[in-house]
Amino acid sequence: MISQNTIQQILSRIDIVEIVGNFVKLKKRGANYLGLCPFHNEKSPSFTVTPSKEIFKCFGCGQSGNAIKFLMEHEKYSYVEALRWLAQKYDVPIEETEVSPEARQQQMMADSLYIINSFAREYFSNTLFNTEEGQNVGLSYFEERGFTQETIRKFQLGYSLNTWDAFTKAALGKGYNLEYLQKTGLVTVRNEQPGDNYRGRVIFPIHNQSGKVLGFGARILVKNDRAPKYINSPENEIYVKNRVLYGTYFARHAIDKLNECLLVEGYTDVISLHQAGIENVVASSGTSLTQHQLRLIKKYTNNLTILFDGDNAGIKAALRGLDMAIEEGLNVKLVLIPDKEDPDSYVQKIGADAFREFIASNKQDFVLFKLQISMQDAGNDSNRKSQLVNEIAETISKIDKTEDFTRQQDYIRQCSQVLKIDEQGLINLVNKFIRERFQKKENQQARDNAAAAPPMDDDLSPEAIAAMEAMENGGEPAVNFFNPDEKQERELIKILLRFGDKPFSEEDKSSVADYIFHLPYDFESLADNELVKRILREYKDMYDQDSLPDKKWFLYHSDQDVASMVVAIMEDKEAELSTAWKDKFEIDTVYGDNAYLKDTISTTNYLILRKIRKMIIENQQELERSTEMDEQIKCMQMNIHLKQLESELTKGLGTVVFK
Ligand code: CTP
Ligand code: MN
Repeated sequence: MISQNTIQQILSRIDIVEIVGNFVKLKKRGANYLGLCPFHNEKSPSFTVTPSKEIFKCFGCGQSGNAIKFLMEHEKYSYVEALRWLAQKYDVPIEETEVSPEARQQQMMADSLYIINSFAREYFSNTLFNTEEGQNVGLSYFEERGFTQETIRKFQLGYSLNTWDAFTKAALGKGYNLEYLQKTGLVTVRNEQPGDNYRGRVIFPIHNQSGKVLGFGARILVKNDRAPKYINSPENEIYVKNRVLYGTYFARHAIDKLNECLLVEGYTDVISLHQAGIENVVASSGTSLTQHQLRLIKKYTNNLTILFDGDNAGIKAALRGLDMAIEEGLNVKLVLIPDKEDPDSYVQKIGADAFREFIASNKQDFVLFKLQISMQDAGNDSNRKSQLVNEIAETISKIDKTEDFTRQQDYIRQCSQVLKIDEQGLINLVNKFIRERFQKKENQQARDNAAAAPPMDDDLSPEAIAAMEAMENGGEPAVNFFNPDEKQERELIKILLRFGDKPFSEEDKSSVADYIFHLPYDFESLADNELVKRILREYKDMYDQDSLPDKKWFLYHSDQDVASMVVAIMEDKEAELSTAWKDKFEIDTVYGDNAYLKDTISTTNYLILRKIRKMIIENQQELERSTEMDEQIKCMQMNIHLKQLESELTKGLGTVVFK
């Protein structure tokens, strides 16, 4: 885990204009910056960055958020990955906390593998362009396949010499550890002799989403029945085959913009399509799709279009796996490439425009396609047919997202027509599958609850939803974000974030935070709002460790609920502190620059008072209920005590706060 200290340092350096400016060309317009939105296709700019609020917002597509959210959306980073990117950019050394020795070892191993892969990529590329064998064999092979220099450079393709150990020697010479070299699969040890694993092959580096090399595919050049066509990297700390899709790094922005991902089988399909200007394409590398890969796609788009080779025998097997894509909420379309071609050969044969045209007009819906194929298969076999009806009903039942309800209805209508069965019958069958799954889920949930499962991402609190909406409405908090009674809770947060480190008392050199946390009341338990409680708890924890969080800590909080809440608090105009009056209305209050002191006292007093009034009511209720004399006396004494406290607090508050 990255330490809080490091995170604070990173956050304090964030400059949203600079960060977004890395990816989007921005022009200054008044207090804002304007550019073409990277999240949707547009000709005139509607994407704005507001440095004073530290947010970006696109008025075309509605995307908005802070600098970290921008990195998460644009680069598809996780929160932590975004932090690491920023740390590197701003030269902030990362201090890790609570890392187990195993985890540290693992991280070091991963780092080493990346370094070796990066060296290897460079080495193979160098071999391709700058050695005789590379040029005569590797480069001429790529040229024969129609790859331009530009394409070869873009995909960082390479060549490995047909020698026993040229690469191995170079790598060991560089001081790389033999054990790690073996882990990458670049070096193998035969008869106790380390040597190259790829010999006389062209090399396809496999990149992760941010362009780092995870591994390689190495293709043989001549047809040879005894050697495999491709040798791929073995699985290791960084290369986990079922989580990777070849080409995501090069395709991600095009997929975002076109809101569609094309899926092909091979490295060369991706590369050829790119060269033809069709860039929203990734490859599964010849295996069936996994859930991880589907989720990877879903980060970018809900529309998946799978291109199957014309001679593909595995279509039926693949179709079975695709129910998973439906479950993930993906909209799956299929295209069959004709005439025993694959996307690579076909686009080279008919050209980019015709290819695009072909895809657009031959896209078939996955569910209907599956139905047709199975119908042909079943022929007149009535057993097969009823099995088929069941299968289709099950597939349709997996579209259980409420937003896809109409899609489900459409399928039921269309499928019942193709199957020539009663629509209501199919509805009943679909419902049966939904019920069964629901039942299963409930049982599972009961078991999970017993084991106290962590909350799901999409279990957002009403406040969080309101906050999200607020963000979407241009950063203004929605009207009902806070209960009016929670106004002072929100002010407390505002005071801590803005003035926590300011001096409170000259006498004992205490700060505002000292004052707040040394009162004999625990504000976390006095607060009603759950998010306020959470912020207070976290603030207090950091206070206890002598490192006060500044407002950025919460503005960029990993928990989006907290971040949204703080944005709303900081932006809340209606509950301005008296300290802000000077900035806002150019009115000097009688408290001058020390107005925050008065705000601090009145806010804390209010919260305490609120608690005392609650206690008075509870105490009176108890008095009414009690039958014992002793108890009644105790209650009455308590009442006097509480009333006294109340009166002291009200006097201290004056009349400014309570109108
Ligand atoms: N593949 C593999 N190992 C093999 C064969 C195939 O890993 N022995 C994977 C590769 O990722 C390959 C994909 O499956 O890209 C598709 O295989 P294929 O269509 O045979 O390869 P292409 O990439 O189309 O290569 P080429 O066009 O040169 O035949
Ligand atoms: Mn091919």
